[in-house]
Amino acid sequence: MTSFILRNASPAKTKVDAVVVGVVAQDSGVDLAPGGEEVAKAYGRKLRPLLSSLSLKGSLGETTRIPTAGTINAPVLVLVGLGTAPSTADLRRAAGAAARAVPNAASVAVALPTPGAAEVRAVTEGWLLGGYRFTTYQRDTASDASGPGEVVVLSAGARKQEVVTALEEAQVVAAAVAGCRDWVNTPPGDLTPPLFADVVVAAAAPLTKGRGKKLTLTVHDEVSLAELGCGGILGVGQGSEAPPRLVEISYAPKGLPEDAPHLALVGKGITFDSGGLSIKPAASMHEMKSDMAGAAAVVQATLAIARLDLPVRVSTFVPMAENMLSGAATRPGDVLRMYGGTTVEIFNTDAEGRLVLGDALVRATEVEPDLIVDVATLTGHMVVALGTQVAGVMGSEEVVSQVLAASESAGEACWPMPIPEEMKQRITSSKIADLAQHDWVRWGGGLFAGAFLREFTAGRPWAHVDIAGPSFASGGPSGHLTAGGTGFAVATLVDLARSLGD
Ligand code: BES
Ligand code: MN
Ligand code: ZN
Repeated sequence: MTSFILRNASPAKTKVDAVVVGVVAQDSGVDLAPGGEEVAKAYGRKLRPLLSSLSLKGSLGETTRIPTAGTINAPVLVLVGLGTAPSTADLRRAAGAAARAVPNAASVAVALPTPGAAEVRAVTEGWLLGGYRFTTYQRDTASDASGPGEVVVLSAGARKQEVVTALEEAQVVAAAVAGCRDWVNTPPGDLTPPLFADVVVAAAAPLTKGRGKKLTLTVHDEVSLAELGCGGILGVGQGSEAPPRLVEISYAPKGLPEDAPHLALVGKGITFDSGGLSIKPAASMHEMKSDMAGAAAVVQATLAIARLDLPVRVSTFVPMAENMLSGAATRPGDVLRMYGGTTVEIFNTDAEGRLVLGDALVRATEVEPDLIVDVATLTGHMVVALGTQVAGVMGSEEVVSQVLAASESAGEACWPMPIPEEMKQRITSSKIADLAQHDWVRWGGGLFAGAFLREFTAGRPWAHVDIAGPSFASGGPSGHLTAGGTGFAVATLVDLARSLGD
């Protein structure tokens, strides 16, 4: 466990194993970033030749370690590139890269440009997330570096209450993001719907029991789902040996005014997506263990919102199913009767997310929330449109802009997408059911999916966040992101709840 402390002190005088300072790129070459002044002073005229001999570019996330040989109090100086004019999102990335540069230091002081709450938050989150590792399935990691015991964040605002709060809240958010990554990274055989539901119950336990009780949680098993008539969740799950689940969590803090905002969250929890009978190609199928990233994000966000005691009501709905093929699996041509009675004709069993979400969205409308946000690894179309770093957001104009504003302060990239008029006709093109789940027209498939989900929102203010791209990093670590699950959307959802409570 890493503990964080705030201090308004000189990085040159702080006694730690390593000091981190920023390097900014300028026309005239590189220079130390604000926060590093005392270090620059200690090096004096030796600094320029040193920086130039290291041939630093100052590009974002570039790291170099140098022994200080007594020039400052710490034996190691870590230089991390910040680019030219670093934003808070850049600080988050740079801090993440710096964390990976000194995995074995017992104590570190971070002297980056962190004058206020937003910067301290970004650096704290970035540090914790960049140093994230998933070692459950690896041998010989017990004695391995698990990050420094102590990180001293140096800030001129160290005594301000808002900065102190930012440091604390950042640790809560980072823990939730890390929890989300853990679940996404867990092999799908170890996280079937019943096991996933158990893991959620266990994670929520400190908040659902005893004196710390802030949440109520219900797990609907396959029997209860059948009684409710959740045909979407049951239909998708029926090809798997592991039965589906629907987890519902509610957070309603005591003493909250009657008219406090009520947010409903819905997350896609496909614990593995083989595509079903419309089977996926083999090459990328293993990454479909991440098809529950939306579910993981909404659960972890809900837990974080409760830990932070944010003054909002939250109702969270998490449909969990495994999309498999077997003699019992749903066939193309089958019709499912969704929760609430809408019938849906299946054309492609690989478009399963919208089916489990349909049931859960209708459940969400029943608690009469002020707004609904669903988060889902829904379509490859969104990855084609926006790449692997940016999520697509569609739905009611106001909720879309609220989500975009929250994603901005959380440092997660989201972009608005439309639901064109033509989609209405396409989703109602089934000759035998109320809705067509898919129509084999390739164009605009991500928007078709959005239009389909909208049918289950009863006209309530709603936004759909398609995280198929940014929820999982296939390559290596970069900035505060590490390989595998990224925890995308957790921070945005917490910031959304925070902004509603303001
Ligand atoms: N889980 C996938 C979407 C996905 C693709 C997530 C790539 C992450 C990375 C989803 O269930 C799916 O298979 N969608 C289909 C929809 C199509 C059949 C309309 C797709 O995107 O091809
Ligand atoms: Mn699929
Ligand atoms: Zn899927």
